[in-house]
Amino acid sequence: MPRTQTVKDYIRTIVDFPHEGIMFRDVTTLFADPRGFRMAIDQMLHPYAGQQIDKVVGLEARGFILGGAIAHQLSKGFVPVRKKGKLPAATIAEEYKLEYGEAVVEIHDDALSPGDNVLIVDDLLATGGTAAAGIKLCERLGAEVIGCAFIVDLPDLGGRTKLDEMGIDVHALCE
Ligand code: PRP
Ligand code: ADE
Repeated sequence: MPRTQTVKDYIRTIVDFPHEGIMFRDVTTLFADPRGFRMAIDQMLHPYAGQQIDKVVGLEARGFILGGAIAHQLSKGFVPVRKKGKLPAATIAEEYKLEYGEAVVEIHDDALSPGDNVLIVDDLLATGGTAAAGIKLCERLGAEVIGCAFIVDLPDLGGRTKLDEMGIDVHALCE
C-alpha cells in the first residue's frame, strides 16, 4: 500500500538559491497542492485549538499566504509584518540578520492593541532573526505572542533555541 503523504513530501529543495551553499526549501509546491496546503494549515493550527487568538501575524512573504488562510479559518484578522518601506501608514521597525544578509521589518503602529493574543506564522525558521524581529514588533505594541508556527524548522541554524530563549512557543511541522 502506498505511504500516506506528509507535508514534507510536498516541499522541494533548490540547491544554491539565492546564493551558493544555500539549500532553499521551496514550499510553493506545497502551496500549489490542495491536499498539501490544507494539511499544512490544519497542522499549523492544531496545537492552538481552544486557545484565544485575536490576530494572526504573517511574516513577508510566504507567511502572508499561510497567515491569510489561517486567519480565514479562525475568522480572525490578519496583520502583515513587511520588509522596510512597503507599509503605507505609520510604522515601527526592527533590524535583523538573515542566513544570507541583513534586513529591516515593519508593522503598522496601530495594527495590534495592548493585550491582543497573537499567533505569528511563516513558512520557515532558520536563524530565527525574522521571527525574533516579528515577535519584538508585536510585543512593542503590547500584544502577547502565544506562539510561532512554521512549516519547516532548520534546527542547525538555531532559530528554535533563539525563540525558546525569548520564552516563545515554537511549532514546526517538519525539519
Ligand atoms: C525566509 C523565510 C523566513 C526567513 C527565515 O524569508 O520565509 O521569513 O527567511 O530565516 P531566518 O529564520 O534566518 O530569519 P526570506 O528572507 O527569504 O524573505 P522572502 O520571504 O521575502 O523571500
Ligand atoms: N530562509 C532562510 N534560509 C532558508 C532556506 N534554507 N530555505 C528557504 N528559506 C530560507
